[in-house]
Amino acid sequence: MVIRIAAVGDVHLDQDVVGRFRPALDQIAEYADVLLLAGDLTRHGSESEARCVATEFGGLDVPVVAVLGNHDHHCDEVPSVVRVLQDAGITVLEGTGVVLRCGEHRLGIAGAKGFGGGFAGRCASEFGEPEMKAFIRTTSAVADRLGTALRELDADVRVALTHYAPVPDTLAGEPLEIYPFLGSYLLGEAIDSAPTALAIHGHAHHGTERGTTPGGVRVRNVAHPVIKQAYSVFHLSEQADRAKVSAEIGSGIDRSWT
Ligand SMILES: [Fe+2]
Ligand SMILES: [Fe+2]
Repeated sequence: MVIRIAAVGDVHLDQDVVGRFRPALDQIAEYADVLLLAGDLTRHGSESEARCVATEFGGLDVPVVAVLGNHDHHCDEVPSVVRVLQDAGITVLEGTGVVLRCGEHRLGIAGAKGFGGGFAGRCASEFGEPEMKAFIRTTSAVADRLGTALRELDADVRVALTHYAPVPDTLAGEPLEIYPFLGSYLLGEAIDSAPTALAIHGHAHHGTERGTTPGGVRVRNVAHPVIKQAYSVFHLSEQADRAKVSAEIGSGIDRSWT
């Protein structure tokens, strides 16, 4: 069994960018069974930019599943952004999951934007001012929803999709000072609470591709400035332990236009 997962994040579409991904996307069914979008789909989160996303990623030959990123929240038009994406056939997850059939197998994807807070030993805590408590409670709540959504997936293979990073590994290259704004270990704990095969995220434009949660789940940063291609492809293949699968990066997809 091989399930082919294509993924990209941080495409930051607006009128100036629309059209650049489409040539590679029109052939995506040759390489992948599903496309995951790891947030920051727009530049400022306006409804008009969401329509650019719908134009670029709508009507593909494979299902498209997305989470939003912080940029997609900036204009405070999230309900309109989500509606435009869903009208284009894109499934938008936020603390929720979806199960897709890939041949004989059920692929479960649980997604949430996530939030910041930092990583073990270097993280904010729910202490002190109300604003600091609210910051960490936001991350804690979204991580709880992600973990619940992952555990409740009725699927053979589970994939976690976030915008913020669940581990510090894939932030290597970013300034240490901003790690707490790039992700949270609570997301990693949520991912480890289920037999997750692969965790996909974006947001860290200057980070690196590969990491691993403390529980051994492979993590991949697919931010477009990192992968430098229209999308990466990961092959999930079944091992002796049915709940765990290995992930391999497929490559060679449109490296030409960066
Ligand atoms: Fe971004
Ligand atoms: Fe971001």
